[in-house]
Amino acid sequence: MTDVVDVRDQRLARVDALVDTGTFTEFGSQARHRVHAFEMQRKRPAGDGVVTGTARINGRPVGIFSQDPKSLGGSLGEMHAAKISRLLDKAARGRLPVVGLLDSGGARIQEGVAALDGYGEIFRRNVALSGRVPQVSVVLGPCAGGAVYSPALTDIVVMRRLDSYMFLTGPRVVKAVTFEDVTLEQLGGADMHAESSGVAHLVAEDTEHALELVQRVLDYLPGSCWDTPPVFAPQPPDPMPDIPSDHRLPYDVRGVIRGVVDGDSFLELHERFAPNIVVGFARVDGHAVGVVANQPYHLAGCLDIAASEKAARFVRMCDAFGLPLVTLVDVPGFLPGTGQEAGGAIRKGAKLLYAFAEATVPRVTVVLRKAFGGAYIVMNSRSLGADAVYSWPGAELAVMGAEGAVDVIYRRELQADPEQRPALIEGYRAEAMAPQIPAERLSIDEVVTPGETRDMVAATLASLRGGLHPEFRHDNLPQ
Ligand code: HXC
Repeated sequence: MTDVVDVRDQRLARVDALVDTGTFTEFGSQARHRVHAFEMQRKRPAGDGVVTGTARINGRPVGIFSQDPKSLGGSLGEMHAAKISRLLDKAARGRLPVVGLLDSGGARIQEGVAALDGYGEIFRRNVALSGRVPQVSVVLGPCAGGAVYSPALTDIVVMRRLDSYMFLTGPRVVKAVTFEDVTLEQLGGADMHAESSGVAHLVAEDTEHALELVQRVLDYLPGSCWDTPPVFAPQPPDPMPDIPSDHRLPYDVRGVIRGVVDGDSFLELHERFAPNIVVGFARVDGHAVGVVANQPYHLAGCLDIAASEKAARFVRMCDAFGLPLVTLVDVPGFLPGTGQEAGGAIRKGAKLLYAFAEATVPRVTVVLRKAFGGAYIVMNSRSLGADAVYSWPGAELAVMGAEGAVDVIYRRELQADPEQRPALIEGYRAEAMAPQIPAERLSIDEVVTPGETRDMVAATLASLRGGLHPEFRHDNLPQ
């Protein structure tokens, strides 16, 4: 008897650590597979390797599944899949966020096509729920195949740093097929997915930290797209930092973000992936928002393929769940070059353009120092439908920087007399980049000082709050 209790406690330990005490209601605890091949009748763990049920997190209802690596490696067979599918159906009926704790070798090899069909059923439901209820995946062990594709369809992926991996197939199969020797870390470690692939939004130091991050993420999101996020007590922002007025000097835009949003409310996502753009959840006057900001610390804050995809998916997620967008702009343009063009910069940059243009949530933009060319338009400009665009004193908006511009429009003059380049640059600055021009023609609504920014953003968002009509907007397609 003691053994049974111990095994059950172990299975539930992760769920218990995540949810409010005593709120978990399990279903399907006696489900077992019905496979006879491969002597599988000798291994029929109760629950078939996954715990499923509903609970509360910080008082709000959620659906949860947690795979048990000690039962058949957490692998997914017919009954295991049926339990997760039933949970996703309950989430659709009850409009519940779903948290998946993943620790699985993927499709259970012994169950063949039944296991593959099981994944298909789950994927279909992940997609049907996309943009309707938040879906959060937490990777707490080596995960392969369907156990990584399902998280990729969800809104947020949290990976535990140690002993957690995500790959289509593990090192042994890689070696057999391509003769490549790779470690688990190289193939699918948390650092690789946080930095290079962009699969992981958040990396946690341990299981406890991962579950804390889930609780925190859910606090920014509504229970469903028909609901609104919880409102917290407003907090004053951090002091607004001074930033260099020379447009070519870098600074960390996260200081400016913290000078705009409520103190301690900023949770950055994808911190190390495409660091030239910063995205994350925050609150303004206690209300959840999504923040998108160019980061002059990396690649001078220019937009590239990775940054466009990262920000596009974030903007679409915020829009799907009704989070207003605060956009801080300091962008020299798109990164030029053959690598970007061949990599699809046009096609992929269009995703961010599309995401902002499509968004119907309240949208405020602040241009901090500069906004040039296509990147000016893309970064939630007035013409794409921003509700308000402010700029800091001296901010420059133009088709391109003065140096590049004079080389194009004065090509012949410069061939004849290269000495006049500095004067032409000055002239272009005075004529085309004068800060008052955008304000005169309503490309920006008002010039605000750094010190006034928080209050202007907060007042603008407050004025738009009454106009929120929670409704299904769109899915959160993986980018
Ligand atoms: C059945 C599995 C399994 C699987 C692991 N196990 N994966 N059983 N089907 N897919 C079992 C192992 O036999 C073992 O059982 C136990 O789980 C622990 O596995 P180990 O290999 O000992 O653990 P570890 O060394 O930590 O390695 C974990 C792993 C490795 C890297 C995940 O098991 C692995 O490479 N598994 C196969 C991964 C894979 O290629 N899956 C893709 C499936 S296809 P015992 O009894 O010895 O404890 C798929 C398609 C979906 O998912 C469709 C996508 C579109």
